[in-house]
Amino acid sequence: MSAAEAAPDRYAVMGNPVAHSKSPRIHGMFAEQSGEHMVYEKILVAEDGFAEAVAEFEAAGGMGLNVTVPFKGDAWALADSLSERAERARAVNTLIISDAGLYGDNTDGIGLVRDLRDNHGVPLAGARVLIVGAGGAARGALPSLLEEGPAALHIANRTADKAEQLAAAFADAGTVTGGGYDALTGGFEVVINATSAGLHGELPPLPDDLLAEGAACYDMVYADEPTAFVRWGRDHGAALAVDGLGMLVEQAAESFFLWRGKRPETAPVIRALRPA
Ligand code: ATR
Repeated sequence: MSAAEAAPDRYAVMGNPVAHSKSPRIHGMFAEQSGEHMVYEKILVAEDGFAEAVAEFEAAGGMGLNVTVPFKGDAWALADSLSERAERARAVNTLIISDAGLYGDNTDGIGLVRDLRDNHGVPLAGARVLIVGAGGAARGALPSLLEEGPAALHIANRTADKAEQLAAAFADAGTVTGGGYDALTGGFEVVINATSAGLHGELPPLPDDLLAEGAACYDMVYADEPTAFVRWGRDHGAALAVDGLGMLVEQAAESFFLWRGKRPETAPVIRALRPA
């Protein structure tokens, strides 16, 4: 049988919910661009059924998975081996299935860095960076953000303890501090919203003088309309205020590279997904 006649290699994203996921469209565009013979589905998984769903996918010949909410921690625990960034993030968004077992990686942080640094021209090296939020999204981004060498990285969270603990867990990787919102003072050049507040139409209580001149605001969440945090940035003098659509595409591109060894072009895919 020639390669063209062989069944396509199988990939999928697992989540709950997963119906809204743009990943099949993104990977479909990557595959078309690069001529890779593959299919990419979305699989809705029961809250307690992650390991079983992965085993089933593997038995059916699946070669790789993306993992989204709420299974990134389950994937971290299930993987037989992990990249260093996934180990530190305690979360896995990309699984490679092979005879050697399940390899887990986390491409969220590098996706964020590439979108900020390369697509938007925001330097992270030497910058004063603030992460708002101390949950899974913040933790996932930290290894790659710190690798860029910011002058200082502060984590602010509604529950101050969680920010302090997260900062302590990364203290060996840079100048990382944590605290609550009331102690927050201004002068940040890059502010990243990693809270889920926007999903409930809410905004963390940020002080009016938070941003340095020319600052960038980045919302890890994306939406068809400007998010509450993007609007906050625009209203408070940010030079750039964008949502996380580019991060979504960049993390997918890194997953695609891990699976297929090819780097897709992200710019046309981001353009295609952005509502007119
Ligand atoms: P995720 O994986 O999206 O990070 P998570 O681990 O549940 O989800 O973390 C959610 C983050 O959003 C936390 O930092 C949470 O703050 P707390 O740790 O204090 O709960 C933050 N968050 C959620 N809703 C918020 C709101 N209305 N205002 C401020 N922060 C909020």
